[in-house]
Amino acid sequence: MNVMSTSPSTLFLIALLWCIILSFTPHHSISISTSAADTMFAGQSLTANQTLVSKGDKFELGFFTPGNSQKYYIGIWFKQIAAVQKKKTIVWVANRNKPITNNDSSSSEFKLLENGHIVLLIMSSKIPIWSTADSSDPSRTMDDSSVKAVLGDDGNLVILSSTNGKALWESFDHPTHVLLPGARFGYNNLTKKSMKMTSWRNSEDPADGIYSVKLESDKSFNVIWNGSQKFYNSGVWNGRFYSNIPEMELGQGLMSSFQFTSYDNGSFDFKYILLNKSSPFYNFMDSTGQHKGVIWSPDIQDWIVIWSKPMFHCQVYGACGAFGVCRENNIPSICQCLSGFEQRFPKDWDLLDYSSGCVRRTSLQCGNEDSFLKMPNMGLPQISSQSTNILAVDNAKKCELVCLQNCSCSAYAYNTNSSSSGGSIRCLIWYGNLLNIEQLVGDKGNNLYIRLAASQDHLGSRMKPSRIWIIVGVVLSGTIIFSGTTFLFLRKQGIRRLARTPKQGDSCIFLTAFRYKDLRLATKNFSDKLGSGGFGSVYKGILPNLTTIAVKRLEDVSQDQKQFRSEVSTIGLIQHVNLVRLRGFCSEGRKKMLVYDFMPNGSLDKYLNHQNDSRTLNWQQRYQIATGVARGLAYLHEECRDCIIHCDIKPENVLLDADFSPRIADFGLAKLLDREFSRVMTSMRGTVGYLAPEWTSGVAITAKADVYSYGMMMFEIISGRRNQKQSKNGKVWFFPTWATRKVISEGQPVVSILDNNLEGNADIEELSKAFRVACWCVQEDETLRPSMCQVVQILEGLLEVNPPPILSYLQAMVDNEETANFFSE
Ligand SMILES: *[C@@H]1O[C@H](CO)[C@@H](O)[C@H](O)[C@H]1NC(C)=O
Ligand SMILES: *[C@@H]1O[C@H](CO)[C@@H](O)[C@H](O)[C@H]1NC(C)=O
Ligand SMILES: *[C@@H]1O[C@H](CO)[C@@H](O)[C@H](O)[C@H]1NC(C)=O
Ligand SMILES: *[C@@H]1O[C@H](CO)[C@@H](O)[C@H](O)[C@H]1NC(C)=O
Ligand SMILES: *[C@@H]1O[C@H](CO)[C@@H](O)[C@H](O)[C@H]1NC(C)=O
Ligand SMILES: *[C@@H]1O[C@H](CO)[C@@H](O)[C@H](O)[C@H]1NC(C)=O
Ligand SMILES: *[C@@H]1O[C@H](CO)[C@@H](O)[C@H](O)[C@H]1NC(C)=O
Ligand SMILES: *[C@@H]1O[C@H](CO)[C@@H](O)[C@H](O)[C@H]1NC(C)=O
Repeated sequence: MNVMSTSPSTLFLIALLWCIILSFTPHHSISISTSAADTMFAGQSLTANQTLVSKGDKFELGFFTPGNSQKYYIGIWFKQIAAVQKKKTIVWVANRNKPITNNDSSSSEFKLLENGHIVLLIMSSKIPIWSTADSSDPSRTMDDSSVKAVLGDDGNLVILSSTNGKALWESFDHPTHVLLPGARFGYNNLTKKSMKMTSWRNSEDPADGIYSVKLESDKSFNVIWNGSQKFYNSGVWNGRFYSNIPEMELGQGLMSSFQFTSYDNGSFDFKYILLNKSSPFYNFMDSTGQHKGVIWSPDIQDWIVIWSKPMFHCQVYGACGAFGVCRENNIPSICQCLSGFEQRFPKDWDLLDYSSGCVRRTSLQCGNEDSFLKMPNMGLPQISSQSTNILAVDNAKKCELVCLQNCSCSAYAYNTNSSSSGGSIRCLIWYGNLLNIEQLVGDKGNNLYIRLAASQDHLGSRMKPSRIWIIVGVVLSGTIIFSGTTFLFLRKQGIRRLARTPKQGDSCIFLTAFRYKDLRLATKNFSDKLGSGGFGSVYKGILPNLTTIAVKRLEDVSQDQKQFRSEVSTIGLIQHVNLVRLRGFCSEGRKKMLVYDFMPNGSLDKYLNHQNDSRTLNWQQRYQIATGVARGLAYLHEECRDCIIHCDIKPENVLLDADFSPRIADFGLAKLLDREFSRVMTSMRGTVGYLAPEWTSGVAITAKADVYSYGMMMFEIISGRRNQKQSKNGKVWFFPTWATRKVISEGQPVVSILDNNLEGNADIEELSKAFRVACWCVQEDETLRPSMCQVVQILEGLLEVNPPPILSYLQAMVDNEETANFFSE
C-alpha cells in the first residue's frame, strides 16, 4: 500500500478544449478492436497502432498525437468517447516530455521487459526514451518471465508480479495532469514530497506546463505557478470537505465520495470514488492555470466543467504572462498585450497558452527620454518584495523620476490607497516583468504608468487581439462565477478584485458572446422552459461553472448580425440594481438569444392572486418591490442615455432575486426587435389590463404609458389579486375602479382593499401612499400621471402626494352592485 514512494513524476495531460468538443454515446458505442487485450506479458510490446483495452471497454492505451501535433506519445484515454471521435480525452501520458518524432513512430515500441519494467524504445536505439524505472525503484532486478501489465477499467495501468500478485508499479502513482476516480493523491512525510498534477503546455503539447497542483504537509492543496508561486489554496481538510471548497460536500451527495486517509507515519492520501459509475468523471490541472473537475453528461453529450479553482481565469497567477493584461470575459481572448508590447510567441497564444507573455516592440533607451503611458482602471501588478518598491514621496513627478532613474523599472503607480499607511500618499515602483495586471470594469482600480521608449508610437500600437477565438461557453464562462473564498485569498495577496458592476458608459466588451452549441448544452436542448412572453420563450440553463442563467430565445429577429450586436451592446450598458442583468448573447444566423442572470424567486405574478399563505409576500416585501420597480423604471426613463420605454410592465416582467428584491425583465426589447408599437401590442394580448388608454387611441406613446402600467401593477401588489376578472356574463370588471370608489367615494379605510392574506398587517402610511400613487398613475390623462422619478420620491417619503380623483373613465364601465358582489366573493 505504498502511495508515498512517488517521485515528482511529471508526465502529462489532456487538452481541455478537445474534451469539450467531444461527443459520443457511451451506451451505444461498439468496440471495434474486439481482439484487443487488456494484458501485456513479459517480452510483449505495442507498436504504432496496437492498443491495450480495459476489460469493460472503458479505457484504451496506445500511441496518440495531440491535435495537429506531429509528435507521438503513449497515453491512456477514454475509449468509448474516442471511438466515435477523432479526438481522444487523454488521462495519462507516459513520455510527456520526450515525444517520438514522426520519423520514428513506426519503429517505436512500448515493451514490458522481463525485469518487470516497461520501456518505450525506438528499435534502432538501445536506450529507452522512457521507462517505469525512471519513476520507481530502478534497482529492481527481478527476473520473472510471468510478469504482466494490465490496463484496468479504472484507467490504471498496473505491472503485476505473477509470483505473488503484487503490484510493482501503477500509473495511478504517477499521475500526469489528471486524477481519475479511485486514484490516490498522496503526500509522503518521509520524503516531504507530494504527488502532483501538472498542466499540459497547451492543447497540442503535453509537456510539463507552468501550472501544477500539489498537496502540502498541512493537508491542503495548492495550485502553483512555475514550481513555487502558490496562488490558490484549498483551505484545511475538516474531515468532510476543504474549507475553501464547501461544494465538495454537495458533490459528495451527487456523485462522489471523498476519502482522506492519514497514516501513523504522517503520510496521507486523498481519493474520490464515483457513486454512479455510469458517468465518466475526472479532475485535472488545466493549462489555463485552473484545477478543474469535469463530468460527462450523457444528456448533452459533452464534458461539463463542474468546478474550477480558482474560479476566474484572471485570478490565475501569471494568467497572461509578462506584460499581458487580463480582462475577464473579454472576447476574443482574455489576454492582451499592454500597449507598446507584442505577443512573444503568437503561435502559443493561438493555442491559448499565454505564459510566454509579451515583449516590447521598441526597447527602452534607458534614460530620461523614456515616456510613460497612463492606463486607467487597472488592478495593479503583483506586489512582491523582489520586484516592487513602495516609497513615500509627496508628488507624482518624484515617483516618475524614481522610476526613470533605474533602467529596470518598468512601471509606477502613484497615490494608491494602502490599508497599512492609512491612505497616505505613496509611490509604487515595479522592476522587471509585470505580471498579473488586470483591466477592471468601471472606475475601479488605479492608474498604472507603463514605461515605454520615447520613440514608441502609443496610438499605433493598440492591443493586438489574439488570432484565435476563445471557446466561450466552457472555458471562458467557466471562470465567471465569483468565488468568495478566492476573493478573500486574493485580497490578502494585495491584488484587487472588484465586484463586476459595470456602469453606464463602459464599453460592451463585458457581454459574453455565447455559441449556440454551448447554450443548447447549458439548457439541455432548451428543455426547461421558465415562461414565454411577447418576444420569445425563456429557458433555464446551467453554465459549466454551475451558474444558473435564463436564456431568452428571440423570435422574429430580422436584424443582421451587426445591427443586432450593436443593439445588444446598448442593452448591455443598461445596468441597474433593479434591472435584470444581461450577461451575454448568441447570434448565429437566425438563432438570436439573450442570456440573463437567473432569478431564483421567479416572477412577481406567482406571488399575487395566491391563496396559499406560504407564497404570500408580507407588506414590507411588497413595498420594497414597488419601490424597486419604480427605481428601475425611473432609471430607464430618465437616467439612461436614451429614454427607454419598457412598454410591457406587468408582474410577469418583474423578477425577484434571492432577497425578493425586484428586477425588471425585458427592457429594451421593443427597440432591439425593431418592432412597431402596434406589433408589440398585438404580442401582448392577455395583458391588456396594464395598457394605457393611449395605446388604443393612436396618440404617441411616452414614458407615461409605463407609469400607467406601473399603477395597475401597484393595485395588484396591494390587493394580491388580478385587477380584472371576467364574470359569468362575460363582462370584465376592474378592481381599481371598485377600490377607488370604496376608499375615495365611500371613505372606507384603505386597509379594506389590502390583500386578505395580510390580515391587516401593513404600515398604514405606506399603504396609503402606495394606494394614492396607484390612483394617480392610472389617470386617463397622461399629464396627470406622475413621472417615475416622482413616484420614487413619494414612496421614499421625499414628496407629498395629494388624494387622487376618482377614476371616472373606468367607472363608466362598471356596474356597482355586480362589482361589489364579484370582489367580495
Ligand atoms: C506510511 O504508512 C502507510 C500505512 O501504514 C504505508 O502504506 C506507507 O507506505 C507509509 N509511508 C511511508 C513513507 O512509509
Ligand atoms: C497502422 O499505422 C500505419 C501508420 O502508422 C498505417 O499506415 C496503417 O494503415 C495502420 N494499420 C492499420 C491496420 O490500421
Ligand atoms: C525525417 O525523415 C525525413 C525523410 O526521410 C528527413 O528529411 C527528415 O530530416 C527526418 N526528420 C528527422 C527529425 O529526423
Ligand atoms: C520559472 O522559473 C524559472 C526558474 O526556476 C525561470 O528560469 C523561468 O524564467 C520562470 N518562468 C517564467 C515564465 O517566469
Ligand atoms: C512527519 O515527519 C516528521 C519528521 O520529518 C516527524 O517529526 C513527524 O512526526 C511526522 N508526522 C507524523 C504525523 O508522524
Ligand atoms: C447513474 O447515472 C445515470 C445517467 O447519468 C442514470 O440514468 C442512473 O439512474 C444513475 N444511477 C444511479 C444509481 O443513480
Ligand atoms: C534598480 O533597481 C533594482 C531593483 O530594485 C536594483 O537591484 C538595482 O540595483 C537598481 N539599479 C540602479 C542603478 O539603481
Ligand atoms: C482611497 O481611499 C479612500 C478613503 O480611504 C476611498 O474613498 C477611495 O475610494 C480610495 N480610492 C481607491 C482608488 O481605492
